[in-house]
Amino acid sequence: MSSLQSASLARVKPSATIAVSARARELKREGRDVIGLGAGEPDFDTPDNVKQAAIDAIMRGETKYTDADGMPELKQAICRKFARENGLSYEPAQIHVAPGGKPVIFNALVATLSPGDEVIVPAPYWVSYPDMVLLAGGEPVVAVGEEKDGFKLRPETLDAAITPRTKWLILNSPSNPTGAAYSRAELEALAAVLRRHPQVWVLTDDMYEHLVYGDFEYTTIAQVAPDLMDRTLTVNGVSKAYAMTGWRIGYAGGPKPLIDLMRKVASQTTSNPTSISQWAAVEALDGPQDFIAERKAAFERRRDLVVSMLNQTSGISCATPEGAFYVYPSIAGLIGKTTESGVVIDGDSTFTTELLNAEGVAVVQGEAFGLSPYFRISYATSEAVLEEACGRIQRFCASLR
Ligand SMILES: Cc1ncc(COP(=O)(O)O)c(C=O)c1O
Repeated sequence: MSSLQSASLARVKPSATIAVSARARELKREGRDVIGLGAGEPDFDTPDNVKQAAIDAIMRGETKYTDADGMPELKQAICRKFARENGLSYEPAQIHVAPGGKPVIFNALVATLSPGDEVIVPAPYWVSYPDMVLLAGGEPVVAVGEEKDGFKLRPETLDAAITPRTKWLILNSPSNPTGAAYSRAELEALAAVLRRHPQVWVLTDDMYEHLVYGDFEYTTIAQVAPDLMDRTLTVNGVSKAYAMTGWRIGYAGGPKPLIDLMRKVASQTTSNPTSISQWAAVEALDGPQDFIAERKAAFERRRDLVVSMLNQTSGISCATPEGAFYVYPSIAGLIGKTTESGVVIDGDSTFTTELLNAEGVAVVQGEAFGLSPYFRISYATSEAVLEEACGRIQRFCASLR
């Protein structure tokens, strides 16, 4: 009997982060006291002015189809955002809007990858990149950014990963899962490599751009290397910056020939993102931005709390990342130790399973992000909850023999 599952879907794993959240919910239903630090979503609410814009759009009757890749009013607001915040000059015809950042990336990959085409995915990577490449028919090529380099891709590692079949490099700064963000000088060094390989396009996922801390200055590659703009897709969205994960609006700016191909994909699959959410996104981008700084300050305090408590935990070391709301601590000091129930910690998957069983703290194993032995904590929750969770992690690690 032939398999129900398609050959291309058979190459794909379900999302590990969604699996951790599901397991945490299951334990909660069983009555366990579980703290979930697995989900990648701000705990803040969508701002009221944005909600009101959606309500107004409904009442005005803006409830019909729009252009498949976004309505002109939103594309214009996105052009203003790119000009104001990134110094990038795009026209509305160079903008793609889709139901979230995820479909924006997927549409770009489906639009451009032929069998055998390679996509360089720096590890630790966001869980979805390799699987989206596989689903789109391409081949992910993982290139590791080591902890000693702040989990960032070195130019020589990039150079060594490029082949004549390389179609894309995916950059993600600040990164999910490490929080690492590339400085201007680091992006310039990568751009110098890319100049020698004109067949390689760059997809930069800037979803966490507004969440950078201290005096770190955010830049994106098209800004640092304007000569690469004709092969760069700059992806962003309202999910993280405006606490709008459920509204499903992501967008990108790029060369018109690529944007035209992405529209062709959207026109035969999703059609337009929800008209109401598009009007909300116009208000998010054009409306007051001051709440972003307040939320950013809260995230920075949480980052500092978590990093400090983890570094006081036996066997764990945690670098201080530049941005996002994740940390990526190492458990190298715990490998080979044994839990009270007799399980040997042989890697990060065992560590995260045992931590959940013993202390009810849900985190995601580094294996899912392509670099072990680490785990990811999402600190998008209150300081009180983070303090409790880190206290439990300390107790668990101290109990290992
Ligand atoms: C790096 C990165 N890119 C893209 C996305 C997807 O964003 P959206 O919810 O808008 O699809 C996420 C969400 O977790 C992310 O972490």
